Amino acid sequence: MTSIISIQKLSKTYASGLKALKNINLDIKRGEIFALLGPNGAGKTTLISTICGITNPTTGKITVAGFDVEKEFRKTRSLIGLVPQELTNNAFETVWATVNFSRGLFGKKPNPQLIESILRDLTLWDKRNDKIMMLSGGMKRRVLIAKALSHEPQILFLDEPTAGVDVNLRKDMWNIVRRLRDSGVTIILTTHYIEEAEEMADRIGIINNGELILTEDKEKLMSKLGKKRLTLHLIKPIDKIPQQLSAHHLERSPDGCALIYTYDKRGRRTGITTLLQDLAASNIHFQDLETKQSSLEEIFVSLVKD
Ligand SMILES: Nc1ncnc2c1ncn2[C@@H]1O[C@H](COP(=O)(O)OP(=O)(O)O)[C@@H](O)[C@H]1O
Ligand SMILES: [Mg+2]
Repeated sequence: MTSIISIQKLSKTYASGLKALKNINLDIKRGEIFALLGPNGAGKTTLISTICGITNPTTGKITVAGFDVEKEFRKTRSLIGLVPQELTNNAFETVWATVNFSRGLFGKKPNPQLIESILRDLTLWDKRNDKIMMLSGGMKRRVLIAKALSHEPQILFLDEPTAGVDVNLRKDMWNIVRRLRDSGVTIILTTHYIEEAEEMADRIGIINNGELILTEDKEKLMSKLGKKRLTLHLIKPIDKIPQQLSAHHLERSPDGCALIYTYDKRGRRTGITTLLQDLAASNIHFQDLETKQSSLEEIFVSLVKD
């Protein structure tokens, strides 16, 4: 895949002196869903704003489809649809008027068929004549997406698209994003929900304190670091792990009531059979057990901690 966005040595220091982005190097591939994951204040919105040409870089260079975002702002901006983090809408207008107007802002000829199909895809068609202020929060967010798509961008930025939306809408949103990707749009979404990145992304970037600390294919990231944990809840608590079990590298829960065993589920052998035999031989018995896939959440927490 060729890259559609290229970011080189990008830094952003706000007038306040705050270094919001520090030496970011990143290529976004055409057609991928890239999730930028990071806690609040990490620099996600700043990075998006800089790529969109709304904020100027302090140093570094960004190109979109080969065009410089500062020197050829109008060109690059026209290739981009931006769904901002904050709900910003013209409350007194109808859905139909707002979305058509957005297209006009980019100097594109009216195209009612296209706007109709966008509204239908976003299940906004029935609401087309409603004033935006009458819509629920979730519908307003859909209108923002419709506006962002109205000028047929090749790239769509979604800045925290599901922050504060309910579970159903979140699932809808994910489906919408997948359909867009299938139609050839490159998607960059930011989120502080790890689950969202795990669910959606082809590739994940983790940003913290203005630094891009990792970019990786999601699958690779999960398999590199994705371990499974087996927790054994013991019938009787133990003070310490017997010597004869040391080869299993068990962890004891602080109260001694559980033992935790970590294994790679992709490995050919999990070692669980021998573990259970060795436990029985050590006269340690359990009443219950559970397994848990180490999630992106744990990966993220451990990365950000270090
Ligand atoms: N216009 C601004 N002026 C000064 N500081 C800002 C401005 N916008 C954001 N910041 C600061 O930059 C840092 C990154 O913010 P932001 O990019 O919004 O993070 P995120 O979107 O990851 O939550 C934060 O510390 C924030 O307070
Ligand atoms: Mg933000």
